[in-house]
Amino acid sequence: MKNTVTTFQQMKEKGEKISMLTAYDYSTAKLVDEAGVNSILVGDSLGNVMLGYEDTIAVTVEDMIHHGRAVAKGAKNALVVVDMPFMSYQTSVYDAVVNAGRIMKETHCGAVKLEGGAVVCPQIKAIVDASIPVCAHLGLTPQSINAFGGFKVQGKTVEAAQKLIDDAKAVEAAGAFAVVLECVPAKLAKLVSEAVSIPTIGIGAGNGCDGQVLVYADMLAMFSDFCPKFVRKFANVGEIMSQAFKDYDAAVKDGSFPAEEHTYKIDDEVIEKLY
Ligand code: KIV
Repeated sequence: MKNTVTTFQQMKEKGEKISMLTAYDYSTAKLVDEAGVNSILVGDSLGNVMLGYEDTIAVTVEDMIHHGRAVAKGAKNALVVVDMPFMSYQTSVYDAVVNAGRIMKETHCGAVKLEGGAVVCPQIKAIVDASIPVCAHLGLTPQSINAFGGFKVQGKTVEAAQKLIDDAKAVEAAGAFAVVLECVPAKLAKLVSEAVSIPTIGIGAGNGCDGQVLVYADMLAMFSDFCPKFVRKFANVGEIMSQAFKDYDAAVKDGSFPAEEHTYKIDDEVIEKLY
């Protein structure tokens, strides 16, 4: 069954957990979709995972459209959410609507995601008014990495925790259909989840959230540059790939690949007529 923003809301109301994983290409999106995961996030984490950047700052709208389009083709049932990259919405409400519109028109995604609370509510409202569903993102928002001074757990003081709750209420009031909570203490994330009626999707925010999201390359142990504490490695695909690449290299070099069954036939008479 096709997942939509309405499905998300109904799942929260029924107390059913929402699953979300990132994907950045057609083949991975197909696998995630066929596994029954409710939503695929084309995260700007593609800057790290796909493009080898140190952070998400340099990711462009074109990058998001390129990968988002491929993912949307592979996702039959999952709700595809595409990240709005750094400086594609912070600059003005106009830029936010134009870029969200481009992302939706050119990828066929079902929603966009942007980072920030009360400060980006005018953008959230304008995008939602243009009939584009918006997922908000609070807590550790990687596009603000330079302002935060590093990857740190957010909301640990009374002021910061209260601001997180207020921001969650603000993005809900602005029309966001869901909110990602990243790197937030579990008790606080649970409080936020109870304080708003839209679903919270946690990443490093404990199981009191209404759903969970992980970067697929982290949960498959394919991305080895950095692995946050909150990641569970559901399979060691990185090791399996690495071994397969070594086996391929050896088979090519010792001549055992390609074997007879990997080759195409031609009549000997044809070969004999060649000079
Ligand atoms: O870009 C991304 O993958 C994200 C998730 C970490 C939530 O925003």
